[in-house]
Amino acid sequence: MTQEIYQKAIKFAGEKHKNQKVPGTESNYLLHISNVAMEILLAHRVHEDFDLNYAVQLALLHDTLEDTDTELSELEVSFGKKVALGVKALTKNDNLTSKREKMNDSLFRINKLEKEVGIVKLADRITNLQNPPKHWGKDKIENYLNEAILISKRLKNKNEYLNRRLEMKIVEYKNYTEL
Ligand code: NI
Repeated sequence: MTQEIYQKAIKFAGEKHKNQKVPGTESNYLLHISNVAMEILLAHRVHEDFDLNYAVQLALLHDTLEDTDTELSELEVSFGKKVALGVKALTKNDNLTSKREKMNDSLFRINKLEKEVGIVKLADRITNLQNPPKHWGKDKIENYLNEAILISKRLKNKNEYLNRRLEMKIVEYKNYTEL
């Protein structure tokens, strides 16, 4: 991977997410984005069996379509069609109604693409399985846990190391459902 590829993608994400915070915190959203990228970098150090350039760009850009005014065509022009389509698969389809349908549909689309797309989804959920925001109720925490279990089930063959990390995070997160 080159520093230039990383810099270009994080600069784009930094501008797009500039007004967004990590839910339930005062942290800028780039904290989430860079944690996902860190998971990818460390996973690649354990086993270099995936395309790091592609995975890191997906990690840095993965929430731009879902959370900002970024257009698919903009990603395509700046980062190419493959990255744009990967980010699209990582984006919920808002025409679907339930959260469950949205997750199933995204996982289905992720599984049709290269393994790097699934690897980023694993890294995303690892990063998100932290102390839940204070305003979340028990039902929401349980749903989030069940979603994580589904992600692990559907994507476990994408990367052994990250799936093991996700499984560990799932076990830890269960504590929050018992409070
Ligand atoms: Ni994310």
